[in-house]
Amino acid sequence: MNALQKGVELDFQESVQFTIQGDDFALAQMLNNLIENAIKYSPKDSKVEVEITKIGSKATLYIRDHGIGIDDKDKPHVFERFYRSPNARESGTGLGMSIALDVAEKSNGQLILEDTMPTGLTIKLQFPHSVWREVSENE
Ligand SMILES: Nc1ncnc2c1ncn2[C@@H]1O[C@H](COP(=O)(O)OP(=O)(O)OP(=O)(O)O)[C@@H](O)[C@H]1O
Ligand SMILES: [Mg+2]
Repeated sequence: MNALQKGVELDFQESVQFTIQGDDFALAQMLNNLIENAIKYSPKDSKVEVEITKIGSKATLYIRDHGIGIDDKDKPHVFERFYRSPNARESGTGLGMSIALDVAEKSNGQLILEDTMPTGLTIKLQFPHSVWREVSENE
């Protein structure tokens, strides 16, 4: 189900544009899996916010949703292949997150799960300076 069908509003903000060293196809697949999750586990008519920014020397991407979130005790497990949280009502195979982590790590990225306040999940994806390059407007 896509965002439009579900009435989920996708909000995109970027204060910097960067390219990441790695496999373009795999990196796109990673983002696709993470954004798909954010939409899938969000209630109808809520917002999914994607923000791209720089924190210190790290290229940082946030994907913030306002869904059910993931309990602290379940957080370490969602990266396991075929794992699905006990409270997930939507169907799926449980592979999306393990693929995303794999791809992030291959580009030396860190994939961190945080809570959105008051509810929901925020994915924080960070890349060290060695693997990213800023893209200027006219490139
Ligand atoms: N944004 C999110 N909010 C709440 N729970 C989430 C979120 N993203 C992932 N999860 C939980 O983590 C589990 C693993 O996610 P993952 O993407 O690997 O599998 P999936 O979405 O169930 O299936 P698929 O392989 O089709 O992506 C999900 O089943 C869900 O319980
Ligand atoms: Mg998924």
